[in-house]
Amino acid sequence: ADMERGKMLEAHELAAKLYHYLLLNTTHGAEALQYLRNRGISDKLINQFSIGYAPPQWDTLARFLTARKFDPQLLERAGLLSAKNDGSGHVDRFRGRLMFPIWDRDGKVTAFAGRVIGEGQPKYLNSPETALFTKSRTLYNLHQAKASIRKSKQVVLFEGYMDIIKAWYAGVHNGVATMGTALTEEHCAVLKRSAEEIIVCYDGDDAGQAAALKSIAMLEKAGLKVMVSMLPKGKDPDEYIEEYGPEAFVREAIGQAVSATKFKLIYSRKNHILLTEEGRKNYLLEAVGIVAELDSSIEREVYLKELSREFEIDLHALKQDSFHKREELQ
Ligand code: GTP
Ligand code: MN
Ligand code: MN
Ligand code: MN
Ligand code: MN
Repeated sequence: ADMERGKMLEAHELAAKLYHYLLLNTTHGAEALQYLRNRGISDKLINQFSIGYAPPQWDTLARFLTARKFDPQLLERAGLLSAKNDGSGHVDRFRGRLMFPIWDRDGKVTAFAGRVIGEGQPKYLNSPETALFTKSRTLYNLHQAKASIRKSKQVVLFEGYMDIIKAWYAGVHNGVATMGTALTEEHCAVLKRSAEEIIVCYDGDDAGQAAALKSIAMLEKAGLKVMVSMLPKGKDPDEYIEEYGPEAFVREAIGQAVSATKFKLIYSRKNHILLTEEGRKNYLLEAVGIVAELDSSIEREVYLKELSREFEIDLHALKQDSFHKREELQ
C-alpha cells in the first residue's frame, strides 16, 4: 500500500510538471495562457501555483506516464486516467482544461482541479476521492499559507482557486479554500490548530452569503474568532481585485471585515421589510436572538444599544428579551 501511494504521488508530480510545461510551451497551451493573462494572472503567479494545461487529446498523460512504466490501473485508481467503456484501455481524465494542482499540507501534489477555458460544463472538474485525496479534509493552498497563518495566527477562507491566486497577488498569503464543497468539521479542526482568527471571504452573491452563514456557525463552534468580508453584491474576491485593484482589496475586504455578529445582523436585515411595523418587529426579534448568542455581556450591550437607538426601542426591553433568549440557549 505504501508503494502504491508512493507511485501515485510520483505520477501526480510528473503530471503537474507535464501540464505546466504544456501550458508554457505549446500552441494549444498558448490559448490557455492568453485566457489566464486576460484574467490578470501573471507568469509569476502561474509559477507560484504551478498552473498547467491539459490538451484536448485523449491520451497525452496516458502515453507520457505509461512510457515511464506506470501501470494504467494504478493511474486510474489515482484519478488521473479513466477506463474506456469498452474495457479496451484508458484515457486521460482531464482534457482541454486549465490545470490547478492540489497539494496536501506538506506540498505534495495529490489531486487536480481542471477548469474549462471560457464557458462550459462542468466549470471545474476535480480528481475523484482516492487513497491520496479526501475532499472533506483538503484545504487548497494550505502548504503555502501555513507559514503566514502561523505567524499572524490568522487565516482567510475563500470559495475558489482563482480567489486564492488573486489574493496572493494582493499580498494575502494566508488564504485557503475548500474544494468547492461545504466546509467540514475536519477542515475546522485543521484551521483551529494553527489560527486563532479567521476571515470568511466568500462570494458576494446569494449562494456565497448563505454558505458564509453556515461556515461561520461551524467555525465559531470550533472555537475560532470569526470575521467576515463584505464584498459588493455579485462580486467574488477575484472579480473585486480585477475591478478595484489589490490595495483596495486588502484595505476594504480584509481590513474592514466585520464581526460574525454584525454579518448575521446584516444578513437577517436583508430578509425583512423594515418599512412595515411587522417587518421591523420580526427583524428585532431575530436580531436580539443573534445578539443573545454572544457570551460577553459587554458585547451584547454594544449591539443592543445600537438596535435601541436605531429602532427607538427601550434598551431594557431589548436586554430583557435577550436575557430570556439566553436562558433558552442554555
Ligand atoms: P472562476 O469562474 O474561475 O473565477 O471560478 P470561481 O471560483 O469564481 O467559481 P464559483 O464562484 O462558481 O465556484 C466557487 C468554487 O466552487 C470553485 O472555485 C470550485 O472549487 C467550485 N466549483 C464551481 N463550479 C464547479 C463545478 O462545476 N464542479 C465542481 N466540482 N466544483 C465547482
Ligand atoms: Mn458560479
Ligand atoms: Mn460563486
Ligand atoms: Mn466565485
Ligand atoms: Mn471567480
